[in-house]
Amino acid sequence: MAPAQDGSIVTQPAPIALHPLDPLTADEIARAARILHDHFGLGAALQVETIDLAEPDKATVRGHVAGAPVARAARFTVYRRGAAGVWAGWVDLDAGAVTVSKFLPDARPMFSPEEFMQIEAAAKADPRFQEAIRRRGIDRMDLVCVDPWTAGNFPGEGEAGRRVAYTFVWRRAFELDNYYAHPVEGLNVAVDVDTFAVIRVDDHAAASGSFVPVPMTPINYDADLLQGSRQPLKPLDVVQPDGPSFVVAGNRIVWDNWDLRVGFSGREGLILHQVGYTVGGERRPILYRASIAEMVVPYGTPEGVHYRKNVFDSGEYGFGKLAQSLKLGCDCLGHIHYLDVVLHDILGNPRVIPSAICIHEEDAGLAWKHFDFRTERTETRRMRRLVVSSITTVGNYEYCSYWYLYQDGTIEFEMKATGIINTAACIPGAPQEYGTEVAPGVIGHIHQHIFCARLDMEVDGPANTVVECDTVAPPMGPGNPMGNAFKVVERPLTTELAARRRVDFERMRYWKVVNRQRRNHVGGATGFKLETPSAVQPYLDPAGPSGRRAGFIYNHLWVTPYRADERYPAGEFMNHSTGADALPGWTARDRPVEDTDIVVWHSFGLHHLPRLEDHPVQPRVTCGFKLMPVGFFDGNPLIDLPRETNRSSKGNQSAGSCCV
Ligand code: CO
Repeated sequence: MAPAQDGSIVTQPAPIALHPLDPLTADEIARAARILHDHFGLGAALQVETIDLAEPDKATVRGHVAGAPVARAARFTVYRRGAAGVWAGWVDLDAGAVTVSKFLPDARPMFSPEEFMQIEAAAKADPRFQEAIRRRGIDRMDLVCVDPWTAGNFPGEGEAGRRVAYTFVWRRAFELDNYYAHPVEGLNVAVDVDTFAVIRVDDHAAASGSFVPVPMTPINYDADLLQGSRQPLKPLDVVQPDGPSFVVAGNRIVWDNWDLRVGFSGREGLILHQVGYTVGGERRPILYRASIAEMVVPYGTPEGVHYRKNVFDSGEYGFGKLAQSLKLGCDCLGHIHYLDVVLHDILGNPRVIPSAICIHEEDAGLAWKHFDFRTERTETRRMRRLVVSSITTVGNYEYCSYWYLYQDGTIEFEMKATGIINTAACIPGAPQEYGTEVAPGVIGHIHQHIFCARLDMEVDGPANTVVECDTVAPPMGPGNPMGNAFKVVERPLTTELAARRRVDFERMRYWKVVNRQRRNHVGGATGFKLETPSAVQPYLDPAGPSGRRAGFIYNHLWVTPYRADERYPAGEFMNHSTGADALPGWTARDRPVEDTDIVVWHSFGLHHLPRLEDHPVQPRVTCGFKLMPVGFFDGNPLIDLPRETNRSSKGNQSAGSCCV
């Protein structure tokens, strides 16, 4: 304790003890990197794709007592500059040793952020590329932008067996210009990302002899380049005079009846651990772990080489690696608690992303209300939600991830997608089959963004079952004489193959995750319903080179028995993946998924034919899902919300107390 400036005694907060699920600290990452460098002895040729927390097994985590010592280990994926294959394994941080290391000759590491600019530099340094640029009448190479795309798994001369970037090209008219308004069509470069050797320069226009002109009308979004702005609205302030209602200690958050731990990885970004809700003095677990474990963006045009645009932004680039620092009053409004994130650079040095995670509280509108027309009494309650969010920039596009916990027990995930649509050049005014001409000569091709949530459920404990709920109407006749009958028919999904499911609007289908060992006060199994408003119909042919690698998109629901090594639905090593060792293969074993520790996988997303309104930067669109209690509580969990009237609210008339 120490005297504060006003003479009072303040208590220094005790250092927060490490929890087994806490992300690696900067010291731990540095230590892991040292151990790896000592072990492999490759000096600066050792490239670190991933150093990440090796999550202890569930029994260890569940048995952990606050303050007790924690065994720490890291998972790693490293590779050697200039060589194919990766080593993947574990580092024991306490023993200071590599405990597991396996060389995987066919696995390819994801792209590291450091490699992006090197790929561009390699392309620009190639005389064939320079000639192709000159041929298009472009004389300033410094204004040319070469975006590195992962190359997928396509036949391409000289590409087999290598780690390849396939690039697309844009140009600026001046330094701050939005280059996506100026696509350079028909010019692509295949670059070996291990050696930065240019494999090929594909100048498709050179072969045909005709160029699609580069559209050169500047279309910008930077305020410094725009002519004036509309009148701002009056201030709208979120004021919490007594501070927010949540408490953050390290990575643990306690808010209202909720508690959880926040994690973060270079690959997945935000992770929620051990989400539970306390009711009647009992803490009831719901989720052991939740994340968006993969995503893919297939583009839908067969024209040119645009079929190569089929990126797995999590597995190939790292959703967390590309997370941005958030800005108070811009990205985040209100009373904000930020968490920094510590990842690492390509050499394994710790890299801090300050303020990468935003935690705050929001008014979520009306919770419930009733006016009794006989007594003329009204009861009204408002609800709040806790928000945990982060924002990732993948090249031209922004993915803004929001997890919401509502006071009524609902858990929601919302993806807000914004940023710049990917563009190509077209002949101005020519009819377009596979895209929208968003500005003269600029086309945005049709595409989808399909995410996969990995929901490691523990509703009232680990033994859970998924039940499919279809609504059916019996035929009009003796059992349904007036033709009005309809009912929900429940069917447990007992094995993995039986649990490969798709939404069905005709049956108003939904799924719920129940614990049949736990009963509510009318004898039903306690559970959570998965609401799937953003299921998308995939159009990639499953037999094609991109469809084979994205098997998770073909069902909206998959259920697997928990396995620590089944982490990513399209596979552990996504770059140039084949689709092997992924959800379709795992579930083909048809393991039982009844009354056991299960993982629920939900594919959802956005179906996107660009609009003119999406250019030059897209107003955010959203997709997501909800986990909603069904029979988990014995009644409305918000019945005990106190009557409250917000005294800062002002009206044009005095409305009195809003709550009685
Ligand atoms: Co889109």
